[in-house]
Amino acid sequence: MSVLRLTCSPRGADSESYRLSQSLIDGLVRSGAECARHVVEIDANRLTHVDAEYARALGSPTAPDGEPRGSLRQSDRLIQSLADADHVVIATPMHNYTVPSALKAWIDHVVRVRSTFSVTREGKIGVLADRPVLVAVSSGGLFSGPDARQPDFLTPYLKAALATIGLKNLVFFSVEGTAMGGQALEAARARARADIATYFATCRRQPAALSAQGSSHASS
Ligand SMILES: Cc1cc2nc3c(=O)[nH]c(=O)nc-3n(C[C@H](O)[C@H](O)[C@H](O)COP(=O)(O)O)c2cc1C
Repeated sequence: MSVLRLTCSPRGADSESYRLSQSLIDGLVRSGAECARHVVEIDANRLTHVDAEYARALGSPTAPDGEPRGSLRQSDRLIQSLADADHVVIATPMHNYTVPSALKAWIDHVVRVRSTFSVTREGKIGVLADRPVLVAVSSGGLFSGPDARQPDFLTPYLKAALATIGLKNLVFFSVEGTAMGGQALEAARARARADIATYFATCRRQPAALSAQGSSHASS
């Protein structure tokens, strides 16, 4: 049993999104989730982009024969670590209204035809078993609520991309407005801590919530 944490900020463990993701992992530990004893760490900034072998393999009508070559090997490993995880925690900043390129690189490796989804006449069907995906987002400005003055392509994109492979149980937590600093940032952090406490309190009252279907945004 394990938790997979994907760190997507170029600032790694010094980042706001990583700190927020640590509060989520601490919450899992306190909630007694067995899987939280073993956290598998992936730094998305160390991933290479998909290469020509990968693009050829995915672009052809049938799966390639023989041993996987090029970035197909990295893709296999990333898919296996995702399939093995009971919970997924994604720590990500917002970059230009959406996911940073490091997170997009991971998505390109794990959202893979004939491996994690199949194409049918009805559309793309996910292959992975659903499980909770807790997403810790940090942004310089606000992207949710009435005072947001920028579009949010991050949360709808991540929901659509991961739903493609069968992961539909996403819960978003956020520290927004980090560029404001000072008291505004402290207040944003306090709201995120409160959202996390509410989430785990709900999970304690209704343990099924930890594996419930659907996606939501926990931040206020
Ligand atoms: C390349 C780049 C693009 C960014 N684009 C946005 C953006 O579109 N909206 C926003 O609110 N903040 C944006 N920011 C600011 C970061 O989201 C913000 O500094 C965040 O707190 C960083 O989180 P981290 O510490 O987890 O990396 C951007 C930062 C960088 C480096």
